[in-house]
Amino acid sequence: MKSDSNAPVTQELEKLGLNPDAMPVHVAMIMDGNGRWAKKRVMNRTKGHEKGTETVRQIVKACRELGISYLTLYAFSTENWARPKAEVKALMALLKRFLVGEREEMGKNAIRLNILGQIERLPDDVRQEAVTTINQTRGNRGMTLNLALSYGSREEITQAAKVIARKVKAGALDPENITDETISSHLYTGGMPDPDLIIRTSGEFRLSNFMMWQAAYAELAITDTLWPDFSRDELITILTDFQKRDRRFGKVTCSTSNDGSPQ
Ligand code: IPE
Ligand code: IPE
Ligand code: MG
Repeated sequence: MKSDSNAPVTQELEKLGLNPDAMPVHVAMIMDGNGRWAKKRVMNRTKGHEKGTETVRQIVKACRELGISYLTLYAFSTENWARPKAEVKALMALLKRFLVGEREEMGKNAIRLNILGQIERLPDDVRQEAVTTINQTRGNRGMTLNLALSYGSREEITQAAKVIARKVKAGALDPENITDETISSHLYTGGMPDPDLIIRTSGEFRLSNFMMWQAAYAELAITDTLWPDFSRDELITILTDFQKRDRRFGKVTCSTSNDGSPQ
């Protein structure tokens, strides 16, 4: 049963032609194309990242209004550290500004912030602002916003393997009792549902080391739109398409009889 507090969201979704009962719980986005957006305008890549940050604000707001419970944004990968120093510095400065500047808005909209990734690798000042925002928003229940920062799926799985191995070595865990749930719970996303939908902007057909474990049954949506041009309207189009998909999870489709023949 839906609580009264969900009524405005339900109405908004119905107005948009979306089925409130078939919305993805967790949406993840690979925000790609900032550099190409800037290049097309003969601008410095940093300008693309600045415009991209504006898109982040709008998309966070849109997802909250659409009643998405978990939004994960891939903002900086473990591989992105290998970019030119000046670009990394500019990205970190933008990130810090976002973490400080959005604190109040996150409070108003009941958004809880989490960081997925190697938070210890972030510059001290950025890490401190991240920790402050995480602590201040801890009690918020409207939507969880995961920022994947210094995130890499292989690193995530490797650190999980180390923690599990230590537990086995200490005698706290029997290797025979390791299940896929054990692995899931040791990832940065431990305790959260897997993404139902992964959106990648800028037309690249790859995961780039993003949520490779969690993506097992995610629906993928790739758009040619560059991240700075991505919008609430396009998100709604993608959600409409998502609702038409038949998510079988390896089983037979609902419209097929038990012996496998179409009905
Ligand atoms: C995404 O845009 C932002 C980050 C990866 C930090 P890019 O900077 O990768 O933009 P393109 O792919 O070069 O256009
Ligand atoms: C993926 O984009 C990482 C983020 C969006 C943070 P990249 O631009 O780093 O990925 P590749 O290099 O095109 O695979
Ligand atoms: Mg890119």
